[in-house]
Amino acid sequence: MSSASSTSGAADAYNDEIIRKFVVATVFWGVVGFGAGVFIAFQLAFPALNLDLEWFSFGRLRPVHTSAVIFAFGGNALIGTSFYVAQRTCRASLFGGNGLASFVFWGYQLFIVMAAVGYVLGITQSREYAEPEWYVDIWITIVWVAYLLVFVGTIMKRKEPHIYVANWFYLAFIVTVALLHIVNNLAVPVSFTGAKSYSLFAGVRDALTQWWYAHNAVGFFLTAGFLGMMYYFIPKRVNRPIYSYRLSIIHFWSLIFLYIWAGPHHLHYTSLPDWAQTLGMVFSIMLWMPSWGGMINGLMTLSGAWDKLRTDPVLRFMVTGVGFYGMSTFEGPVMSIKSVNALSHYTDWTIGHVHSGTLGWVGFITFGVLYFLVPVLWKRKDIYSQRLISYHFWISTIGIVLYIVSMWVSGIMQGLMWRAYDSFGFLQYSFAETVDAMHPFYVIRGLGGFLFFFGSLIMAYNLWRTCRGDIEPETVSSRQSATAQA
Ligand code: HEM
Ligand code: HEM
Repeated sequence: MSSASSTSGAADAYNDEIIRKFVVATVFWGVVGFGAGVFIAFQLAFPALNLDLEWFSFGRLRPVHTSAVIFAFGGNALIGTSFYVAQRTCRASLFGGNGLASFVFWGYQLFIVMAAVGYVLGITQSREYAEPEWYVDIWITIVWVAYLLVFVGTIMKRKEPHIYVANWFYLAFIVTVALLHIVNNLAVPVSFTGAKSYSLFAGVRDALTQWWYAHNAVGFFLTAGFLGMMYYFIPKRVNRPIYSYRLSIIHFWSLIFLYIWAGPHHLHYTSLPDWAQTLGMVFSIMLWMPSWGGMINGLMTLSGAWDKLRTDPVLRFMVTGVGFYGMSTFEGPVMSIKSVNALSHYTDWTIGHVHSGTLGWVGFITFGVLYFLVPVLWKRKDIYSQRLISYHFWISTIGIVLYIVSMWVSGIMQGLMWRAYDSFGFLQYSFAETVDAMHPFYVIRGLGGFLFFFGSLIMAYNLWRTCRGDIEPETVSSRQSATAQA
């Protein structure tokens, strides 16, 4: 057995020490990434916050935010939970022992720091969600291969004959992200000291490769991996099997088949051939079906146990997360329709869509899983405070609503102002007037983001007290009355 402390429900001991590290990193990077989001949101409302320093300019801090929330917060949550789920569902400890798993952990944190330092210094290859230059790309490739080895190795040494569907989703996430990363980052380094490279692709092929990458980063990083979480942790929390195993298999194959073709919806009305744009649109509309199939499967797992939503704030986080997943995967196909995209593209509507998916789905399912995992991993009877989980839930929900509603209003207004003509056929509004009109909505978005960030601080405090073994008297009594009712 490795030196890592472990829980054993099987012949082989589980490595939980590494998962504890991933949990701490998830909370830490979450707070950093949300904080950066709030800061850049206020920079858009009050440009003086750029402080006239290039390191603090919106252009450099925006990728710090997106990478911190997607790769650092989301990535640590995904790698950590995939190790937890694989061990439990395979009844096997992690392949490669604590050494290889620790390399994945520390190597991944180094990747995040290298990327962020580069952004602040202005080192970027200007590809959205793939901003890091070649030296960071090579490093993360090595770490990712080690991750794949640990995950696949664990599945191969499983003692269960069956591979539970959550692992399929995690594996699709790991393999597809590797493929996307390698192809999109094919480049020729031209300077070692200035860390500069040029892409192997040019013109519209370059654009298509980038949006094939970025769209599937959404599909496989922000969706498939988190669906893996949903398929394991919701049934665990409600203590029932998944609603339909058959549906989960259909969900899996249709989702991964359709997602990969939808990237061109990011390039409507560009020099991409028209037929390719239409293809992207059609696949995006079809994507609605598996997405909702997955949502229904997650939600219906609660059938017969809906009352638990009243008493269990952790489950409320997970289920609301799935609800937001359904909402954003309805909105996405609508936005992919060319005539709708003619209005929404380049506007804040896209930003609203992004954050209903990321704050509502990625954020909430992860918060639910963190509240579930910390007492288990630190071997505590319960979470420190049920009350604080409820506060976190409501404060963040109000924050999300303020964020997305303000962006819908701002985005649709922006789109309509850009296309308004006067009776002489001239544009009715100058660009500066549209920027000015957005100001109040940017302030509201900033406040909404602040509430979400504040909620995450409450969570960090609650989890820290849980690790220390503290428990609030209210939590004890609410547990007792829930048990008595049952
Ligand atoms: C406190 C919470 C957050 C705030 C205040 C916030 C704020 C922002 C702001 C101001 C932008 C730039 C918008 C623009 O360029 O017009 C942005 C972009 C973005 N954020 Fe967040 N964010 C938050 C949380 C998150 C989370 C949790 C995720 C993902 C898990 C996320 C993912 C993104 C992405 C992908 C973009 C780029 C969107 C695009 O280019 O269309 N954000 N965010
Ligand atoms: C059926 C599922 C979905 C479809 C068809 C879809 C479709 C779309 C469309 C049409 C756009 C706007 C493209 C543009 O005008 O530039 C978009 C942007 C985006 N969506 Fe979705 N969406 C889906 C689900 C999601 C989910 C669940 C998330 C997050 C968890 C998400 C995150 C994003 C991000 C980050 C962008 C902004 C990309 C950028 O411009 O940087 N989407 N999506």
